[in-house]
Amino acid sequence: MNRMRRFFLLLPLLGFAVSLGPALSLAGDPKSSAPKKRDRKPAPVMSYQGAGWLERLSREREENPQKLIAALKLEPGDVVADIGCGSGYYARRMAPMVGPSGKVYGVDIQPEMLQIMKQLMKRDGVTNIEAVLGEPTDPKLPPGSVDWMLLVDVYHEFQDPAPMLAKMREALKDDGKVALVEFRLEGATARHIKIDHRMSPAQVMAEWEPAGYTLLELNEDLPTQHLFIFGKTPAKSSDASADTEVTPASHPVEKREG
Ligand SMILES: C[S@@+](CC[C@H](N)C(=O)[O-])C[C@H]1O[C@@H](n2cnc3c(N)ncnc32)[C@H](O)[C@@H]1O
Repeated sequence: MNRMRRFFLLLPLLGFAVSLGPALSLAGDPKSSAPKKRDRKPAPVMSYQGAGWLERLSREREENPQKLIAALKLEPGDVVADIGCGSGYYARRMAPMVGPSGKVYGVDIQPEMLQIMKQLMKRDGVTNIEAVLGEPTDPKLPPGSVDWMLLVDVYHEFQDPAPMLAKMREALKDDGKVALVEFRLEGATARHIKIDHRMSPAQVMAEWEPAGYTLLELNEDLPTQHLFIFGKTPAKSSDASADTEVTPASHPVEKREG
């Protein structure tokens, strides 16, 4: 085989190696400095038809919800928003902690999920959750009203994260905080979860910092998930959120198990 012919035969292999590059960098060292641009595509939104999976018993072992909620140190009277609440698995567990003087907003973009949450609230005798039908880029919450936002296994599904983060920020009180929980992209703890439903600290920081959030704590005490606690960065540096490049995904709602 002459040299020219060998070169043309190897060309497709070279192209394959180059296209693998970004995928491999996703699994990079979580302690490495944050990439300046988004390096991921949003995962499809999980359909309400998979709501049973959100109520599975194994979540106790996989996620330790008590430990997660304890990290928020909720107090009676607090106003909490469970963004992307699904069937209300976390909203229903937080509601007794804020008591009748507080409230939980259960926000979701699928009305069917909110219906399921309401049925489970009735079953559990929980009354202080207000169901809110959000839009993909707007949680539809009153401005400056929320002490704590909780996002469990949802942020990676935001199809257009930058405007959603901006609206969430508006709804937070000045001293309000956000608990962001995502399955670990790196390591073996969350291998049972599809890769596009997991995130690394570098990916999170690349999108949240420019959107006007300051990391207060990265808690790694949960079995399979990162727990990020964010506060609001004072207004001056927040309007940089427009820099975040966003690639809306064209995925339809997906049925999901793991
Ligand atoms: C995987 S489920 C998690 C549900 C819940 N957080 C839990 O851990 O049980 C993701 C939920 O987020 C909702 N969701 C996706 N994008 C959203 C958005 N932009 N605003 C509000 N909810 C959203 C979906 O409809 C779905 O119910």
